[in-house]
Amino acid sequence: MIGSVYRKALKPFFFALDAETAHELATGLLAKASGFEFAQDALASLFVVDDPRLEVSIRSITCPNPVGLAAGFDKNAELLDILPSLGFGFIEVGSFTPLPQEGQKRPRLFRYPRQQAVVNRMGFNNPGVKVAAERLARRDPGIRIPVGVNVGKGRETPIEEATEDYLTALNVVHDTADYLVLNISSPNTPNLRALQQAEPLEKILRAAADLVRARAEAAGVPPKPLFVKISPDNDEALVEDIGRLCVDIGCGVVATNTTIDHSPLTGAKQQGGMSGRPLREKSNDVIRRLYRITRGVVPIIGVGGVFTAADAYEKIKLGASLVQVYTGWIYRGPGLVAEINRGLLRLMERDGFKSIRDAVGTAG
Ligand code: FNR
Repeated sequence: MIGSVYRKALKPFFFALDAETAHELATGLLAKASGFEFAQDALASLFVVDDPRLEVSIRSITCPNPVGLAAGFDKNAELLDILPSLGFGFIEVGSFTPLPQEGQKRPRLFRYPRQQAVVNRMGFNNPGVKVAAERLARRDPGIRIPVGVNVGKGRETPIEEATEDYLTALNVVHDTADYLVLNISSPNTPNLRALQQAEPLEKILRAAADLVRARAEAAGVPPKPLFVKISPDNDEALVEDIGRLCVDIGCGVVATNTTIDHSPLTGAKQQGGMSGRPLREKSNDVIRRLYRITRGVVPIIGVGGVFTAADAYEKIKLGASLVQVYTGWIYRGPGLVAEINRGLLRLMERDGFKSIRDAVGTAG
């Protein structure tokens, strides 16, 4: 019902606007609604699916359902009090860099409706970790879904000094995050993806894990879950190396970021990373391969082309404990998360799973 209202009335309006203008309008409306408890309650009554069978715990965090919002939608950490009312089980904000950045010149966000895809070359436009941490610290303590904070390297930082950037960013946001993500896979920061190679990756992950462990010991609490977000464009051997390293270090994986393979797209080509439907299989291949190597020892967050409950369920069966949506949410509208959660319950019942956790990795 809500989905069809969005698709018939609101979507044509939003899609008539330039993609980033539409995004700003939508996030501006959400930010305004965010201050009003009645708006939170009204949205929650439409979109929140409350069922203990959907609950997923990963180390110190518990998500009421496995469907999260991917990084890059709330780049300013301004929607923390309203996004939970849209039914998400967790949200990831960022990416944030040590210093504020303008990002690339506009236009930098493009829709491909025929393929249900988006290409972006935003380039980490964000207010910087300090502002992000201040906003995170002010979030309404009554709204408790986990918030992940995703950090990236500054555009001007030489790639050899990337580790320092990640540590600086982690240090600032650590206390305000429920989980932490190192984004080493955006195609829009020059050379960033090179950090996925064994040597730089091990250096960054070990240093980040040491920092998170030290902060936990100092506070006398368990370490916050740490994830690394990887690209869908790595070859199979590299995906396996990353999986083994993550098991060794105890680091989860967010799989995947956008792809630089634009071959499914027709029409004017734009530089940047492609997300949406044509990314789904590529991201699934990475999840399948990672799960075979990691066997549930480290958590996987599956992201890329989730548009339906069946898409989410497939990623979970391939080995993802949690999934995220972004482009699907733009095309299908705000009802998507509830639609996926209701659909997951039906699929679990069909297959005899008592909890969504029992479905993880069952596709072999
Ligand atoms: C993104 N994504 C992203 N990821 C990240 O780690 N940091 C970021 O800042 C951004 N920014 C961003 C902006 C835009 C406009 C889009 C569309 C995407 C990638 C996103 O989190 C996700 O990994 C991909 O979009 C794949 O998922 P979907 O969109 O196919 O569901």
